[in-house]
Amino acid sequence: MKSLVVYYSRTNITKKLAEDIAAKTGSDIDEIIPKVNYQGKIGYARGGKDAMQEKIIEFEDMKFNPQDYDVVYLGAPVWVSKAANPLLSYIKQNEGKFNEVKFFMTAGSSGFESSFKQLEKYCKKPLKTIGLTTKEVKKGEYDLTSFIQ
Ligand SMILES: Cc1cc2nc3c(=O)[nH]c(=O)nc-3n(C[C@H](O)[C@H](O)[C@H](O)COP(=O)(O)O)c2cc1C
Repeated sequence: MKSLVVYYSRTNITKKLAEDIAAKTGSDIDEIIPKVNYQGKIGYARGGKDAMQEKIIEFEDMKFNPQDYDVVYLGAPVWVSKAANPLLSYIKQNEGKFNEVKFFMTAGSSGFESSFKQLEKYCKKPLKTIGLTTKEVKKGEYDLTSFIQ
């Protein structure tokens, strides 16, 4: 089974999880790098506003084509109880190219369910989902066994 991990991460928490999923599944891995700057204080505010509006943004070219994979793991942080809009932008650009998908998200504390629902609307019904807090990822306090099966 050929799998790909695609993620967006602003402060490297989702990145850490993405790299762990890729290592445990032997997946290729690709990062969404927005052309919009979401770093720093101004970036934080911009991210909140853009996520609220589900803004579609431009991002750098990606290395891999999701169509070439049986399963694509899609990951992002929760922003204002939604999936961070850079991931929505990637999904939109690749509409119809996903075979099976699984969603993984990180958040300070909450907003997982609303974000998964939103991702399902943009993409398709996932085989599985996992939502972890920033703290759980930082400390490595999670178990991916069932998620990656
Ligand atoms: C603009 C913005 C909005 C956020 N909104 C939420 C939220 O609604 N609920 C929550 O629990 N955490 C929220 N967070 C915190 C992030 O989801 C959390 O820190 C996440 O693990 C960061 O992942 P990253 O390092 O991959 O960017 C928000 C962060 C940002 C920057």
